[in-house]
Order: sequence, then structure tokens, then C-alpha cells
Amino acid sequence: MYEIIEAIVRRAGGIILGAKHIDESVQEKSSHCDLVTKYDGMVQEYLREALLTAFPEAGFYGEEEEVHDIAGKSAYFIVDPIDGTMNFVRHAKHSCISVGLMKDGRMEYGAVYQPYTDEMFTAQRGRGAFLNGSRLKMRDVPLSESIAMFGSAIYYRDTIPATARLMQETLPLILDFRRSGSAALDICYVAAGRADVFFEACIRPWDYAAASLIAQEAGGVVSALDGTPLRYIDRCSVAVGSPSNYPELIRIAQRILQEPDMKGRIK
Ligand code: IPD
Repeated sequence: MYEIIEAIVRRAGGIILGAKHIDESVQEKSSHCDLVTKYDGMVQEYLREALLTAFPEAGFYGEEEEVHDIAGKSAYFIVDPIDGTMNFVRHAKHSCISVGLMKDGRMEYGAVYQPYTDEMFTAQRGRGAFLNGSRLKMRDVPLSESIAMFGSAIYYRDTIPATARLMQETLPLILDFRRSGSAALDICYVAAGRADVFFEACIRPWDYAAASLIAQEAGGVVSALDGTPLRYIDRCSVAVGSPSNYPELIRIAQRILQEPDMKGRIK
């Protein structure tokens, strides 16, 4: 059944690969660092039509125009048509499509597709995580042996001091940082063992929904940075790690949250 979603997502990747004159359609959303192109809208519209034709009962929660059609739906898609829009605008070829299926309050299925490398990360709850059909198993290492990926939550300026503190506290403990510009791919990279831990002080559900299930099904632990469950609605911080490094990351974040000027800066 979920092969249908995968096929739809793959076809949507063709829109990204065929994009021309991207620079001419760039617009600012909340600020000059928060961009959108006509292709974000085209991919989302294609996904909305195709997914809802295949699953007419489902709702749709999408990034562009904040389409929020989930009232009364027991199942709905959480969609980021292009995660890594800034990379897309700069022709960096590191962006993806992220489609998660929420069912009865839990993530049921996730697909994250990187069209430039033709990498399809998928997971179904209880059935494991896969990259192009090969099973994924997260590395389980302590923070001292971890590569950390992170997001800067740049759209939410009030979180900047907390991100800086998180980096300051973790950098001396880890192997090194990576910052890629796509939270969904970052989390999938952790699932695939290309990195070991991920954090961001505030992101929206379409950036992490599908990938969070992929990480869990690869043996990882996911939550908000204070250790509470991911909220999958509106804004939330995200922490992803393995059984060995996740508790250390959460301890650091909780300690930072106690600092007087850090109150409310991690969502
Ligand atoms: C963004 C990317 C980025 C993360 C931001 C996200 P977008 O998504 O995932 O890595 O730091 O918080 O909003 O705007 O490119 O879809």
C-alpha cells in the first residue's frame, strides 16, 4: 500500500530535477532567510492532488501556504515539498521531499526523497527503516564518538542564543559538527549512520515528521530537546540520537534550559 506513496514522492522529485530559472521565482516568507520558490508550491500541489486521490479519506498538512486540512481526520499527510529550500535556490543539490503519514496520533509511515542522489529513505511503524530498499541500522555510540548534525532554527531569532549554547556545550564533547540545510536529510543521515546525533531548537512538523519515524525505526530515539515527546503540530525542538548518545544530549539541553536567560528559547 505504501509503495503508492513512494512512487508519488519519486515522481514529485522529477519536478525538482526539472526546475529551471529557480532564481526568478524566489520570494521571501517570514524574512530574508526564509525563502520560497514557485517549485515549492508546484511540488506541494502535485503531492496534495496525487496523495489525496490515492487516499481520499486522509487530511493534508503542508508547509506552503500552511495548508492545514486535518480537522476530524484520523489519518493525514505531513508534507514538506522542498526541505532545504535555501540549498535549492543556491543549486546546492541537497534538498528533499518529505512525506509523513500520521495515523491515530502516531507516525505510521515516512518517506524522505533526495532526488539529486536518488536516495529514498522510508519507514513504516514496526517494520524497520530502509534506504533504497536496504535496511538501516543506526550506529549506537556515545557523544564522544558522535558526529552531530544540527539546524540553526534561523527563522526563530529568539532561539539563536540557545543554539549557540548547545553548540558551545556539545562541541568539546563530540567528534565534529555538520550543518547541511535540510533537517529531514540530517535526521535520515543519523538513521543511516552518516552522522550520530541531531538537534534543532525549533522547527515545524513537516521538517521532521517523516524522518523522525525513519530514525526511530533505525533504532534511534527522538523527542523534543527537553525530553518530552515530539508534538507534530506547530513549533517544536527536535533531538535525535541513539540509546547511547541521546541521554547525554538531553542532559545538556535540560541544563541549558535551567539558565535564567535561556527560558523559552528552546521550544
Ligand atoms: C528548513 C531546513 C533547515 C532547518 C530549518 C527548516 P525549509 O526547512 O530543514 O535545515 O534549519 O529549521 O525550516 O525551510 O528549507 O523547508
